[in-house]
Amino acid sequence: MVHFAEQRSAPYSMIDRKHAVFTQVNNVVGTLNVLFGIREFLPDCHLIKLGTMGEYGTPNIDIEEGYIIVEHNGRKDVLPFPKQPGSFYHLSKVHDSHNMMFACKIWGLRATDLNQGVVYGTMTDETALDEALINRFDYDDVFGTVLNRFCVQTAIGQPLTVYGKGGQTRGFLDIRDTVRCIEIACHNPAARGECRVYNQFTEQFSVLDLAHLVESSARKLGLAVEIDHIPDPRVEAEQHYYNAKHSKLIDLGLQPHHLSDSLLESLTNIAMKYRDRVDASLMLPQVNWREPKNDRRMQMSMPSRSSAPEQRADLAASAGAKAKKG
Ligand SMILES: NC(=O)c1ccc[n+]([C@@H]2O[C@H](COP(=O)([O-])OP(=O)(O)OC[C@H]3O[C@@H](n4cnc5c(N)ncnc54)[C@H](O)[C@@H]3O)[C@@H](O)[C@H]2O)c1
Repeated sequence: MVHFAEQRSAPYSMIDRKHAVFTQVNNVVGTLNVLFGIREFLPDCHLIKLGTMGEYGTPNIDIEEGYIIVEHNGRKDVLPFPKQPGSFYHLSKVHDSHNMMFACKIWGLRATDLNQGVVYGTMTDETALDEALINRFDYDDVFGTVLNRFCVQTAIGQPLTVYGKGGQTRGFLDIRDTVRCIEIACHNPAARGECRVYNQFTEQFSVLDLAHLVESSARKLGLAVEIDHIPDPRVEAEQHYYNAKHSKLIDLGLQPHHLSDSLLESLTNIAMKYRDRVDASLMLPQVNWREPKNDRRMQMSMPSRSSAPEQRADLAASAGAKAKKG
């Protein structure tokens, strides 16, 4: 059984109490229902569940794949890797992981927890067969992921909005590899009683690295791109150590599609093709982690590329002030 079905946005979970509660009830109760269903009706079934690399946070040590050997006061054990998630959404995934581990232990279920990085791209070989099969391309501040958002900003002539310094480093993967990882997990089921954890990403980038990659790829397409640093609406380290292991899926045969110029160009071209459908007012972040309540009806708009830099700086500052106020 492959379980993707969760509220999957961190900003959404940080809008206010209602959204945080919805996220945790939907995700944690949904996964609990799946676990009880498997136990009752199909105890030999292999559960493959999408978790997230965000469960680990950004510790100042290497991140292992799920478990770490700890020596303490002369004794040694293999323990779940410490979790320091950065939003109520990521916390829901941590709670799911604990419930899965517990269910495997008490009922002998078999599970794979795929701690996925940030996905980019929109197409697989299958969806490319026909325009009717085109996947969703979220670009807004709540549901869009960073690289897709940068490509849309390039297409509509907005500066790329890097939150803070942009040193936030994460694991990323191509959507085609996401699909392949699920297939690999299916073909290599966990043993009864085993809750296996794979870190599902292929490369690490900082947000600023990505902005520079998009900028240079856009230049080859004849597009000028500017990069703006705006105040970070999230509470997160903007510069930190990050080194996460991700060898288990490779060992099982994953051949990663690395982020290349051609992929960036094709993503930007898709965004260019459909740019008339983009609502430019949805790009600036409107959910501030520091506030318990965010009013997202107060839309802001960004100037186009041709606007004066001072005007953009003013807008970024007011976005930051708004982010502080909530
Ligand atoms: N996209 C990413 O970058 C990313 C990164 C890490 C982890 N993930 C995880 O991968 C999984 C898939 O994410 P996605 O990006 O494809 O998002 P998505 O929104 O396309 O997919 C999630 C799906 O779950 C469904 N869903 C939510 N609650 C449900 C419920 N109670 N019952 C039935 N269906 C329900 C939604 O309708 C949606 O179709 C999620 O679990 C997400 O947390 C995604």
